Amino acid sequence: MTIKILTLFPEMFQPFLATSIIKRALEKNLINIEVIDLRQYSNDKHNHVDDTPYGGGKGMVIKVDVVKRALDANSSQMTKVLLTSPRGKTYKQNMANQLAKEEEILILCGHYEGFDERVLNYVDEEISIGDYVLTGGELAAMVIADSITRLQKGVLATGSFEDDSFQTGLLEYPQYTRPTIFEGMSVPSVLQNGNHEEIRKYRLYESLKLTYLRRPDLLVNYKLTKEEEKMLEKIKNESLQNE
Ligand code: ADE
Repeated sequence: MTIKILTLFPEMFQPFLATSIIKRALEKNLINIEVIDLRQYSNDKHNHVDDTPYGGGKGMVIKVDVVKRALDANSSQMTKVLLTSPRGKTYKQNMANQLAKEEEILILCGHYEGFDERVLNYVDEEISIGDYVLTGGELAAMVIADSITRLQKGVLATGSFEDDSFQTGLLEYPQYTRPTIFEGMSVPSVLQNGNHEEIRKYRLYESLKLTYLRRPDLLVNYKLTKEEEKMLEKIKNESLQNE
C-alpha cells in the first residue's frame, strides 16, 4: 500500500519516517510512504501557494489550482484523497481498519490559513483527529499514516494488535512485567499462577471495568456476550458500593 502526504512542511516527516516501527516497515517495503512538497505545484516565480481571501479578512488562503495540479500529478482513480482538518469527521479505529485496505491514499495536510473551499470537490473525506485545533494538519497526517502502517501485514508480530484498545471494542487490560513486587505494589496473583482460563477471565473483566469507568460510550454499540453481561453486572454493583 502507498500513502502519499501532500504538505507545505515536508521536513516535519523526516524523524517520523526514520524511527522505530515505521522505519522498519519502510525498509521491508511493507508500506510505501511518499512525502510531497505542495509548493512545487505553484505556478508563480516566487513559489506562492496562497492568496488573500475574497471578502477580506486576515490571513491567506491556499489556492485551489495549486492543490488541483498537485492532486493530478500524484493521484489516480483508485486513490482515496483525505484532507486533515478540525472540521472533519473524527478519526476512529474503524476508519483506520477501512483505510488500511486501500491500495493508495493521499493525505492533503490542512493548514491554519485554510484552503479555498473548492478544494473539497477533489477530496473524498475530511478527517479530524480530535476536538482540538493544531497549527497544521501534519501531525494529523502522521497519526493517520501511523495507525494504517501498523495494521499492514508483517509490520507487527502476528496477534499483537488483536487485543488493542478499540480493536476489540473495549479498552485494553493492564499489563505487568518483573519485578513481581515494586515499592510494595504486587503483580496480581492471577497473572502469576499460569492458569490460562483464569487469566483470560481476569483480563476480560479488567477490560470491561476500564471501559465502563472511562469510556462508557464505547459500550453503547458493543454486543456483550452472556459472560460479559454477568461481569458488567458485577462491575456496576462494585462501583455502586464504592460510591
Ligand atoms: N488541523 C488542525 N487541527 C486538526 C485536527 N484536530 N485534526 C486534523 N487536522 C487538524
